[in-house]
Amino acid sequence: MDSPKASGDRPSSQRPPSGSLVVRGIGRLLAIEPGAEAAGIRDAAVVIRDGNIAWAGAESDLPPGSVDGIPSLDAGGGLVTPGLVECHTHLVHAGSRADEFEARAAGASYEEIARFGGGILRTVAATRAASRAELVDLAMPRIRDFLARGVTTIEVKSGYGLDLPSEMKILEAVRDLQAATPADLVPTFLGAHAIPPEARSGRGALVQSIIEEWLPAVAEAGLARFCDVFCETVAFNRDEAGRILRAGLAHGLQPKIHADQLSASGGAELAAEVGAVSADHLDCAPVGSLAGLAAAGTVAVLLPGCMVSLGRPRFPDARAFRAAGIPVAVSTDFNPGSSVTRDLPLMGTFAMAWMGLSLADAWAAVTTSAAAAVGLSDRVGRVVPGFQGDLAIWPGADARGPFYTYGGAVPDFVVKRGRIVSQRWNTGKTRGGD
Ligand code: NIG
Ligand code: FE
Repeated sequence: MDSPKASGDRPSSQRPPSGSLVVRGIGRLLAIEPGAEAAGIRDAAVVIRDGNIAWAGAESDLPPGSVDGIPSLDAGGGLVTPGLVECHTHLVHAGSRADEFEARAAGASYEEIARFGGGILRTVAATRAASRAELVDLAMPRIRDFLARGVTTIEVKSGYGLDLPSEMKILEAVRDLQAATPADLVPTFLGAHAIPPEARSGRGALVQSIIEEWLPAVAEAGLARFCDVFCETVAFNRDEAGRILRAGLAHGLQPKIHADQLSASGGAELAAEVGAVSADHLDCAPVGSLAGLAAAGTVAVLLPGCMVSLGRPRFPDARAFRAAGIPVAVSTDFNPGSSVTRDLPLMGTFAMAWMGLSLADAWAAVTTSAAAAVGLSDRVGRVVPGFQGDLAIWPGADARGPFYTYGGAVPDFVVKRGRIVSQRWNTGKTRGGD
């Protein structure tokens, strides 16, 4: 069996074209197909043609001769899942806030730090001072790190610019990054992330500028797919957030909301009202808001990394959302302040250990539900014919492995559109329940 080489230790600096690949020797395949066996398919194979899944099933059912001429990869009896979907990041930013993490350990709260000039506005100052090329240089290794952890689709928000040129610079950096990485990047405009220092006395004018100048410019340049707003007492109130999200919709940007993170600020209700694709955080969402989210088909994106970076021991209860019929995704929320991690499988561990998700729900939370949260549920997050050929090949056939042995789970191989884009340096079997 010939084994195609990974495109170097790192993903290529040029976006590779789609490829064809047959993956054999799969100990267990989690296709995450609706109604499929939660236990997955044993002794499976997957065929990817021209970047898309052409066939997936028991290897013994693979029609003879059907994969002649296609390069082959041996999964070594491992677990194959869809490439993971990271549906909420702030990965384009400059500067560290490690000192704030230390200050919180000494008793300061996130809100106090923000009031004394720290928090989001510090990252805004550092990001404004960085050039677009510098932002790209800072972000690319973070994307490589996500890929190495099995993440093949990544949502990326602006929001550390807070003026039109700086917001555009961040979104243009995302476009530059997309041209240079095999990962799919999904850009979101988060111009309404915080009140910038220059707008403290005139927030009405700020909201008006976002609606009348920033949103049209971003949409006109085709730089974003979603419009997000931080709806919170320390940021934009429900009325302001609603006006911005509706204006975004009028410009073709689908709504997302940072909702009820620190207090019940009306974010979940607003998400239902505007038909948001996702409502994110939801730590303080009132129980009464869940029926509206369910009716609107909004995905609840829960972000347990914040509990660690913010030192808050209370994880959101995912069971309440599942019981209300709301799809639940989990995400790292990777950013330099409230959640400084890119370990998406670890978020699955937290979801199982502290948020009440079952194993099957945890896998859905980092694949299909996360894909729905970025409007891609018909293309990524499942290993079924017609979907993109995005796979993570994990050591050991145990579906619990990447969550059970927690922290730093890395697949042996990561495949994006039929090409190997990341390969683990040490393929010794250390996971899968052994
Ligand atoms: O998702 N909640 C608002 N925004 C980010 C925090 C960003 C920061 O602290 O820099 C979040 O947690
Ligand atoms: Fe966030």
